[in-house]
Amino acid sequence: MSFQDALARCATETDALLDRLLPLDAFPASRVTEAMRYSALGQGKRLRPFLVVESASLFRVPRERALRTGAALECVHCYSLVHDDLPAMDDDDLRRGKPTAHKAFDEATAILAGDALLTFAFEVVADAATHPDASIRVQLVSKLAKAAGVAGMVGGQMLDIEAETQNASELGHIGLIQSLKTGALFRYACEAGAILGQADPAPLIRYAQKIGLAFQIADDILDVESTPEALGKATQKDKAMGKATFVDLLGMDEAKRRAAALVDEAVESLAGYGDKARVLNEAARFIVERRK
Ligand code: IPE
Ligand code: IPE
Ligand code: MG
Ligand code: MG
Ligand code: MG
Repeated sequence: MSFQDALARCATETDALLDRLLPLDAFPASRVTEAMRYSALGQGKRLRPFLVVESASLFRVPRERALRTGAALECVHCYSLVHDDLPAMDDDDLRRGKPTAHKAFDEATAILAGDALLTFAFEVVADAATHPDASIRVQLVSKLAKAAGVAGMVGGQMLDIEAETQNASELGHIGLIQSLKTGALFRYACEAGAILGQADPAPLIRYAQKIGLAFQIADDILDVESTPEALGKATQKDKAMGKATFVDLLGMDEAKRRAAALVDEAVESLAGYGDKARVLNEAARFIVERRK
């Protein structure tokens, strides 16, 4: 199966699973469920679930287990986007080609929908359907908590905001911000595949570190080079907000060179898996060549 077909298949399956796990009329607070569904279903690339599924498939993990883990991770990612778009953060009106959650609903509902998506992710991973072995579920839960929280995505978002006013001009510091705010969830995606398969996670962690950084560099390049119509979110924002990005620090050409070099390093990390890693290698290339 081609990379594009595999990604599309995973997106469809992830959407179907989230649709099933989050029915509209399941809870009394239907407004927040509606906002969760609005923010989690449809349009996303589903790259993080895809990485869980493909990493897990190296070890012949049953697909349903990987999809559940990927769907939970996607809930964490969608929560991070809902909060990232809030007026107190990046203050964006457009996400995935639609009004952001706080525009479609209101700020309080968006905050609560984000909170609910985050906690829901843990409910999904902790369920026995994700893996029959409770010790594996505990590992998945604890690594997800770490990736999402102060040691990972949230910590990175804090440094990202601080850097707007502190003029971060040091390459190492920008690398640290990116590795936390974006890299941590990518790392979880790939490591989760190895945990589900009870395999050595080291090569996948190396791969994830490279593609996580390449992914954020590509996001920052698209902010400069793309359009809201093509991207489904605002562009030309990072410079206006004083964001610390590699594009700003190194210039466009060098940022592109770095992203391409990271892809080569990511592919090298998986050399030991031989042809089994073909789709993951194509995913690494897609990350820097994507147009949205
Ligand atoms: C956007 O992530 C946020 C970043 C970490 C840069 P994606 O580009 O994966 O967003 P969706 O899920 O496809 O909308
Ligand atoms: C966001 O980075 C990373 C998250 C943890 C959500 P950005 O702020 O650059 O993401 P976009 O460009 O709004 O998607
Ligand atoms: Mg942001
Ligand atoms: Mg943003
Ligand atoms: Mg961005």
